[in-house]
Formats: sequence, structure tokens, C-alpha cells
Amino acid sequence: MDNLIIFDTTLRDGEQSPGASMTKEEKIRIAKALEKMRVDVIEAGFPMASQGDFEAVHAVAGAVKDSTVCGLARAMEADIARAAEALKPAASSRIHTFIATSPVHMEKKLKMHPDQVVEHAVKAVKYARQFTDNVEFSPEDAGRSEIDFLCRIIEAVIDAGAGTINIPDTVGYKMPERFGKVIHTLIERIPNADKAIFSVHCHNDLGLAVANSLSAVMNGARQVECTINGLGERAGNAALEEVVMAVRTRQDVFPCQTNIDTTQIVNCSRLVSSITGFPVQPNKAIVGANAFAHESGIHQDGVLKHRQTYEIMRAEDVGWHTNRMVLGKHSGRNAFRAHLSSLGIEFESEEEVNMAFSRFKDLADKKHEIYDEDLQALVSDTLSHENEQIKLVSIKAVCETGERPQAKITLSVNGEEQVGESDGSGAVDATFKAIEKVVNSNTHLLVYSVNNVTNGTDSQGEVGVRLEKGGHIVNGQGSDTDIVVASAKAYLNALNKIMTPVERKHPQV
Ligand code: KIV
Ligand code: ZN
Repeated sequence: MDNLIIFDTTLRDGEQSPGASMTKEEKIRIAKALEKMRVDVIEAGFPMASQGDFEAVHAVAGAVKDSTVCGLARAMEADIARAAEALKPAASSRIHTFIATSPVHMEKKLKMHPDQVVEHAVKAVKYARQFTDNVEFSPEDAGRSEIDFLCRIIEAVIDAGAGTINIPDTVGYKMPERFGKVIHTLIERIPNADKAIFSVHCHNDLGLAVANSLSAVMNGARQVECTINGLGERAGNAALEEVVMAVRTRQDVFPCQTNIDTTQIVNCSRLVSSITGFPVQPNKAIVGANAFAHESGIHQDGVLKHRQTYEIMRAEDVGWHTNRMVLGKHSGRNAFRAHLSSLGIEFESEEEVNMAFSRFKDLADKKHEIYDEDLQALVSDTLSHENEQIKLVSIKAVCETGERPQAKITLSVNGEEQVGESDGSGAVDATFKAIEKVVNSNTHLLVYSVNNVTNGTDSQGEVGVRLEKGGHIVNGQGSDTDIVVASAKAYLNALNKIMTPVERKHPQV
């Protein structure tokens, strides 16, 4: 049985979704959860994008021990040297370099002749090999590249020392059967194909990213690049959880296995969702709230008689627990910490443990049954508001039938308290307007969403806010048992991000 390498690019391609940018600390938390899930390769970012991206890749490289940490670099010496520098602390590292190979990209974007593209690719791979033996090469937009040209460039980069050849369907254009044939043809026709592992990286513009990835696996690909919850540029990438569970569930079809600890899947999904503010749709395969719920009486009856009548996977195998109360009011600090560790959540400092523990005690006063979901939301909320310049001090919101809702908000702006008051069409509207009286941000609210973290009216509400200013988009999150407070936190979280915009290079533009 072959090994199917799982290469997670949530921290790189996932972060290229508008508004999904993550801080260094958030990237470390996700990377640790991916490591715990036994992901083989973690693509931590594009170090050339900015100083912050460089530091994040460097920090992930230092924090992760069991997975290979990868950095993306265009086929340019400066990018490759920067990636190599960022990856220095890694126990095992990989440089992933790429250049576009489709006629439209070569002519219109790169303005290069195909011969020049081959020359650049070979030079880049040879240069990357000076830093590490583990080099991956991608012909970007391979999905729309000519097969003869792909064969030529791939043969050349394998000769130059690339050990992994990744075939991206960059714009999500391929059909599963044809994409599978491309992989088959490449492996069959390229004389030195046996010296490399073939990988695929599929985008989901036509909803086919997972189908294309699996078709490639059927045709010899032994690495799949994917993201948690299918996060990624535009319609996203192939969802890790779907690829992994398809391979595991259909062992009669796939001649390979992954190393993934599938019981960590739901934890990782929740973590990525709460950090990025991208909610998971209820009917999303594997990690959606309804993925294992049986609504109709006929299905419930069947599952009770014999679960295989309607279930092809077991919910617990991907980490779902049925409303498991995990901690309560009397749980101590050690139990709290140990339980978070079992969820893949580790703290950077004692101060962070103390802050989260004190939030936990407050929550336990309001809500006496605390579930995993509560803890995940609480920790994300505590850590994401930690270093904010504008903080919520207090809020008063008044709603009364027949009266216009009012909000009074006290903020700490760089340590100085300021008060704003406003009315609004509802308590949340009044709160946002009161905040704007103080901050005057000139931003546009694109998305406002509320999700309950657990069931029941005492549940925490998790609020997501997406703001735009001058083309720059950010997401903010907040959670609290009071959704007006959660909304204020989410709005402030987004404002804090948008007011310190960071210049970043996009690798593919
Ligand atoms: O979609 C794509 O082509 C990419 C490459 C950089 C691998 O993300
Ligand atoms: Zn991509």
C-alpha cells in the first residue's frame, strides 16, 4: 500500500482568501493542530510577501517538529533565498518554487518565451537545492498548459533536482477524468518521472477540486495539496477532510493510505474557522454541523436499527462528539490546560493561560455546561483580542418596544478611554455606530454573521464581521454569551486589523 502525502496549504493558499489573513500567533496555533493531526507537509506561507510573512514562516518552522515545513518562492533567487532563511529553524524543510507554464500566463503575465520559462525553472530548482535536498516545483496553471511543454519542463526540473512535481489546476478548469489522464500521461511519458513524487493542487472554481485530486490519485499522484475546510483563493482549494476521508472510506478504490489522525479533523476545522472568520456551512461534507445528523424519521429509524444503513463513516472517527460536557465551574487550571492540549491548543506563555482561564471562569458562571466548542471559541476570542490598540471597555445597549435602540460604548484607544453614543435600527446597529463615533474609520461593512457555538439560548454567539477600506478586506471575530458584546468585539477586531494595513506581495500576481 502506497503512502499518500498530505500537503496542507491552509496557511499559504488558504490565507490568500480575501480577509483570511492570520497573525503569526494564529499561524502557529493552526500549524500545531496540523502537526497533531499528522499532516506530512505544512506550507506555512510565502516569506517574500512581507516581513510579517517571513516571521510567521520562521516561527512555524521553529514550532513544528514532526511535519515538514514548506515555504513558497517564485522562480527567483531573491524569493528562494528568503524562503531558505525563513525555514532555517525547521527540523525538516522544503522549498516550493513555481513558474507559470500555460500559453496565456507565459505570454500575458510573464511576457516570456517558453525557452526562458524552462531556463528560469531549472535555475530556480538548482538554486533551491543549494539550501535543501527537499525541493518541490510547480508549473503554475498546468491545467491549461500544453502537455508536450509540461513534459519538457518537468523532465528538466527533475534533472535539476526537484523531488516533488506538483501539478496545479490553478483556475479550477479541469474535469476529473481528463485531469487524471494528464497525470497518467506525465508519469508515463517523462523518462525520469520515477525520480519524483507527483502531486496535485486543485482549485474549486467549478466545485471539482476534490474530484480532480482523487482522480489524480487514481492515476499515480502520491501527494495532494489541500486546505482545511477547502479554504483558499477564490472558491478555495481541495478540502483536506474530504480527500482524506474519501481515501480512507474507499480503500476498495484507492491504492494508498494517508498518515492522518482523522479524529483531529473536526478540531482543526473549528480552529481554522474561528481564526479566519470563515464559517463552515452546515451541509459541508465531514465537518458541517449536519454532516452526520439524520433529520428524517426513516433515516433515524434505519440508523438506530443498523448504523450502516445510512452511514458510511463514523462521526467519532473524524472527531465529532455528541454534546460532550467537558468542563464546569469547579474545574481547575490544570484540567483546563490539559483539556485544551487534547484539542491541539497550546499556549505560548503563562500569561495567555491565565487570561484564557479567567475568561473560562467568567463563562462558567454564565453557562454551567462548557463544551469543546465553547473552549475553542473562548481561546480564539481571548488570543485574537490580546494585542489590540482599540479595546472594548464596556457597553450599554438598550432596546425597548416602540423606542429607538440606543448604545453607549467605552473604548480604550491606545490606553486612553473614549466614549461614543448612538441610536440605531437595532442594538447591533446602534453599537457599531457608537463605535464609529469614536473611531471614524471610513470602512464599509461587507458581511455580518452570527452563529451559535453550542445549542441552547445560553450559548455563546460567534460573530463575524468583514470590513473593506480602499480595496483592503479584513475579517474580525468575537464571541460572548451576549451577541451585542460579541458583535462589538468582532467589529473592533476587524477595525484593529484594517487600521494597520500591511503591504504584502501576492505570489501569483
Ligand atoms: O494555484 C496555484 O497554482 C498555486 C501555485 C503557487 C502552486 O497556488
Ligand atoms: Zn493555489
